[in-house]
Amino acid sequence: MKRNSIEIEFTEFGDLQELCPDDQKLVHAAISATRQSYTPYSGFSVGASVLLDDGSILSGSNQENAAYPSGNCAERTVLAYANSKYPELAVKALAIAASKEGTLTLQPIPPCGGCRQFILESELRYKSPIRILLYGRQKIYLLKRSSDLLPLSFTDQDIK
Ligand code: THU
Repeated sequence: MKRNSIEIEFTEFGDLQELCPDDQKLVHAAISATRQSYTPYSGFSVGASVLLDDGSILSGSNQENAAYPSGNCAERTVLAYANSKYPELAVKALAIAASKEGTLTLQPIPPCGGCRQFILESELRYKSPIRILLYGRQKIYLLKRSSDLLPLSFTDQDIK
């Protein structure tokens, strides 16, 4: 028998001003995107923004559906758009923010399991780490790569 453990590293900031200007810009874009969500069922508005290799920023938000499972998370909305419209450009960073009844969450909101898998695919596809910024009014988390969010992940290697 062998016991293993996995440790992940992330940085915590107490305020947006502590981030570098480029990261602040990306987080602001995610915050703005929360206002474009369509959330008549949960009232929970998520915004996600990506920084592409050419410096451009794209944003998306969650889009819900009366048939609940047909709704889309913000992260998958923006990543599917970015990767389909600009397949030649790697995603370098992704910021996530969320609000409930118009108020941004105090705590950073982590991406759901399905979104982690989706983000990881983009990271592996471009062989380039995606920095993850999780915004909360009280604190902001920064992870160096999306694979840190999904240890022991299922990837293309497992299908071979
Ligand atoms: N949601 C996201 O947009 N991203 C996540 O990573 C977690 C959940 C959305 C889905 C649904 O519209 C609402 O948040 C409540 O679950």
